[in-house]
Amino acid sequence: MHTNPVIIIKSPREIEQLKRSNTIVAEVFRELRKMVVPGMTTQELDRTAEEMILSKGAIPAFKGYRNYPATLCVSINEEVVHGIPGPRKLREGDIVSIDVGVNLNGYFGDAAITLPIGEVDQGAKRLLEVTEKALHIGIETARVGNRLHDISHAIQKWVEGKGFSVVREFVGHGIGKNLHEEPQVPNFGSPGQGPRLEKGMVFALEPMVNEGSYEVKILSDGWTVVTADGKRSAHFEHTIAITEGKAEILSTL
Ligand code: MF3
Ligand code: CO
Repeated sequence: MHTNPVIIIKSPREIEQLKRSNTIVAEVFRELRKMVVPGMTTQELDRTAEEMILSKGAIPAFKGYRNYPATLCVSINEEVVHGIPGPRKLREGDIVSIDVGVNLNGYFGDAAITLPIGEVDQGAKRLLEVTEKALHIGIETARVGNRLHDISHAIQKWVEGKGFSVVREFVGHGIGKNLHEEPQVPNFGSPGQGPRLEKGMVFALEPMVNEGSYEVKILSDGWTVVTADGKRSAHFEHTIAITEGKAEILSTL
């Protein structure tokens, strides 16, 4: 039994600050999307992202967080999240999840996308489409009057209806003056449960969707999360603010 999480409500001017931070995240993705080609290394992506963030007067939010060593998380194929950039080269047919966090003036931005490298197979295309749509179904459900786990349930129902599974061990989160705040936002759950959504709440929704079973394990580097069955996984994330009507996506241009 746990007590209710304290969810910090953000003022309109704080949401403006969060939007500025998340806009930098979106700008990084615009750049990385243009860059990714077979043969490039994941550390080249990391370097570009870091330089861009610093040039805008912001700080990479993941670097140094619990000793995480890089600006991006780059997770390829069966890697789910938290892959550490390095000398590995992207290959035609890979799917690559890229996660970026930014701290601008103490306000955090966080988002992720999964990109196909060159031509990918039909299964990969479907996995990416279903995962991105899962995020948007979550956003659509994130409305005043609904409860937190209505979001979780909507994502789970969509994903499982398509024959995929949702990762249980990693979840979305509140975000604001910290990268991770209450509440946890699972991608699975029962409708009608959890706190009521209120204007001014800000969440990072981040479905992680596996082709096979939902079980994951962590590699010996202490970070990289991979599927237990070796099948592929995709990840899309946006930071959103609850308003009247449809939630506002902050991590977009
Ligand atoms: N988007 C992820 C999260 O919210 C990325 C965290 S990576 C870490 O947890 F390095 F910062 F841990
Ligand atoms: Co996140």
